[in-house]
Amino acid sequence: AIDPQFHETREEVDDHEGHSVWGPVDEPDELGIHGTHVAVDFDLCIADGACLEDCPVDVFEWIDTPGHPESEEKADPANEAQCIDCMLCVDVCPVDAIDVDAG
Ligand code: SF4
Ligand code: F3S
Ligand code: ZN
Repeated sequence: AIDPQFHETREEVDDHEGHSVWGPVDEPDELGIHGTHVAVDFDLCIADGACLEDCPVDVFEWIDTPGHPESEEKADPANEAQCIDCMLCVDVCPVDAIDVDAG
């Protein structure tokens, strides 16, 4: 599962479409965590798609990640600022790749 303390245990190494990327990153095998309020561990995501289907405010968008061992696309929290903290995505992800900091 995604480490809920990632903002303390990892370093912010990049910016992607306006949100942070938390390393380590070593493409294409290791992609890190995207987002801060809505965070997706790209190294855990298997492209199940439940988060995209269920999010009521369309926070997630697919991005291509060719060559990643778990899946070749990921749910990117492109619109994390729109999140209403409903926690549906956290509940439906089969690999617990998503953390939402509702505190
Ligand atoms: Fe969308 Fe709810 Fe997840 Fe926020 S907590 S990203 S609103 S499904
Ligand atoms: Fe990935 Fe989990 Fe969404 S596997 S596509 S973050 S439901
Ligand atoms: Zn991203």
